[in-house]
Amino acid sequence: MAPTAERATFVVVANRLPVDRYAGADGREEWRTSPGGLVAALEPVLVANSGTWVGWSGAPDEKCEPFDADGMHLVPVTLSTDDVSDYYEGFSNATLWPLYHDVTAPPAFERRWWEAYHEVNRRFAAAAGEEAAEDAVVWVQDYQLQLVPALLRAERPDLRIGFFNHIPFPGYELYSRLPWRTQVVEGLLGADLIGFQRRDDASNFLRAARMLTGATTRGSVIETAPENGRSGRRLRAAPFPISIDTAGLEQLSRQPEVVARAAELRSELGNPGTILLGVDRLDYTKGILHRLRAYGELLDDGELGPPGTVLVQVASPSRERVEEYQNLRDEVELIVGRINGDHSSVGNPAIHYLHQSFPKEEMAALYLLADVMLVTPLRDGMNLVAKEYVACHHDLRGALVLSEFTGAADELRQAYLVNPYDIDGTKEAILAAVGASPSEQSRRMRPMRRRVIESDVHHWANAFLGALDMVTSN
Ligand code: F6P
Repeated sequence: MAPTAERATFVVVANRLPVDRYAGADGREEWRTSPGGLVAALEPVLVANSGTWVGWSGAPDEKCEPFDADGMHLVPVTLSTDDVSDYYEGFSNATLWPLYHDVTAPPAFERRWWEAYHEVNRRFAAAAGEEAAEDAVVWVQDYQLQLVPALLRAERPDLRIGFFNHIPFPGYELYSRLPWRTQVVEGLLGADLIGFQRRDDASNFLRAARMLTGATTRGSVIETAPENGRSGRRLRAAPFPISIDTAGLEQLSRQPEVVARAAELRSELGNPGTILLGVDRLDYTKGILHRLRAYGELLDDGELGPPGTVLVQVASPSRERVEEYQNLRDEVELIVGRINGDHSSVGNPAIHYLHQSFPKEEMAALYLLADVMLVTPLRDGMNLVAKEYVACHHDLRGALVLSEFTGAADELRQAYLVNPYDIDGTKEAILAAVGASPSEQSRRMRPMRRRVIESDVHHWANAFLGALDMVTSN
């Protein structure tokens, strides 16, 4: 793995490549940049530095050659059908995902999955090492790749390695259940800088590092345990809350076609007085069932109901081969069916349930038209939907009901904050949000907008990369 001159000075390593496949005009498959905030933040950095992104195409057994898209050099890592089932669906999404989200579903601990996770992390590390020039910056993303920092450092001690965890890092009482807890912490300690969404996530990690590896910590600085007579390495673990491309989204929401589409949707919904909106991946961490329970009770109590009030719930399909996700879909659809059965009339459903994904223009129109946005996860690293809603409301209208168990709640303090497990409290917050006067709406929306405008995703990327530069130049 010796570095050569034409290799990249900036490399991103993530489970997925930043592109989606689509059928081009002549029927041939083409790639289009994915709409997410991470891509929006990193694309300019990659383009400016002729950088490389290492990741999986999203399809099993696909062997693609490296290719270029929108000025980014993309290097696919192949995952076999077994890798997808054991590394991605298994260890990443049926072990780590529920464990890191405070056990909102029971995590499964399968030794075969761990072996696959280790092997696939090794492959990502090898691919990144092949691509990185001498002294390059390598930025590893998220919980699927926690072993990459140490694996990469072992081969390429010259590299400057950052890691960002997009999801929560759990308290030690929960984390310590993981049979491979020490190996995972040691994997992360290979980085020079480890970024988390919230202060609490960073302190949970610092504690795990002390408990499991003999590392010492002072503030955000970690010194790893001395090894073979050599003193330990210094690194940092600190919060860097991620955000969205606020200006880009606001601009989109001002486009005449989007504004017209919002008006069209409102009329298609029967011009109700109040439109409530939920937008989530169909994931058990998102608290969709708790939200539906609260909404259903408000309808039972006669506090809200169609045609005056409707709920639009977008639940985009996700990880559909994982059992917990299949069970959740059944439960959500059962409760939606019950509520609609009890409270709808012909042409006036109480809930418009959409198990689909929509392009960003349609999402902006939905955010614009929503009088009340319901974001009620049981645990969420950040929750960008809450920030997207605020970004679209340059009219200072609308109200955000937000779970206090999201990273976003640390920043959007003027939202109607709720404990989603408290159904009565959630009902009260929904009613307060529905009844908020225009002046109350703008009193809350203005400071939240200031926050998402100042702290956008470009600010996030610059803050992380600036801090990585500081750590590695000391
Ligand atoms: O928040 C973690 C995350 O991995 C995001 O990066 C991603 O958008 C989402 O979960 C869905 O992940 P995937 O479809 O890749 O499993």
